[in-house]
Amino acid sequence: MTSHDGFGQVSVIVPAAGAGTRMGTKKQYLPVNNKPILQHTLERLSEMQVRQIVLVVAPDDQDFRKVPGHEACEIVTGGDTRGESVRNALRHLKLEDADWVMVHDAARPCVRVAEIERLVAAVDDSEVGGLLAVPVIDTIKRVQESKVIATLDRQGLWLAQTPQMFRYGVLRRAMEKALAADIAVTDEASAVEYLGLVPIVVEGRRDNIKVTTRADLALAAWYLEQQIGEQPDQVHGLQNKQQDQR
Ligand code: CTP
Ligand code: MG
Repeated sequence: MTSHDGFGQVSVIVPAAGAGTRMGTKKQYLPVNNKPILQHTLERLSEMQVRQIVLVVAPDDQDFRKVPGHEACEIVTGGDTRGESVRNALRHLKLEDADWVMVHDAARPCVRVAEIERLVAAVDDSEVGGLLAVPVIDTIKRVQESKVIATLDRQGLWLAQTPQMFRYGVLRRAMEKALAADIAVTDEASAVEYLGLVPIVVEGRRDNIKVTTRADLALAAWYLEQQIGEQPDQVHGLQNKQQDQR
């Protein structure tokens, strides 16, 4: 599953049902470089010719209809949490247990096909799946009431990104079980870990940011701009070993 053709076996879920509380608006529809964030994300994903893309939107949302690329997606109604939104999409998908499902946040428009390909290649033989992540470079403090309680050892700490991809049977069981137990599932991997399984980590790139606050809008615009200048084999292709932006 290392070529673009291999993506034909992958179903993609794009959770886009969030309220954007920290941004103050549904950020997936905010323009960055003249296109809604969701459009950038769908464009990146549609470069891969996957089996299907399921776009998860909030129950009251009609704005997705204005975003080019939505016509090619199956639309599913989201839930109150990201976990419930993904679970709804998994219930909608009619797949075999061994089939691959990839989940990618609508709010991560700067992902490159090249890093998605590296993830796909790395999990190929796995019965579970894995995720993109980057090592923590900052010093991490535990803080209470404006006072430092502890400094964590950042050795071995990584920041989880998306895409995350798992076998359908594994992810479906994991999400149903974790949500039933009221476990906080802020990503798919945490639900899979809750099942006692071990996701594979593939080092991603730092520009695959999740647009969360106003400041991220300018950053995403700049990263997308930079990526236009890249050679096609930097945006596509497994040969990209360069890990700048660290
Ligand atoms: N998401 C979703 N369903 C939810 C909550 C989030 O599909 N109930 C999606 C968001 O639309 C986003 C991704 O999950 O693409 C990551 O979530 P996040 O960055 O937290 O977005 P929001 O929940 O919209 O933002 P906030 O937490 O600030 O409200
Ligand atoms: Mg959220």
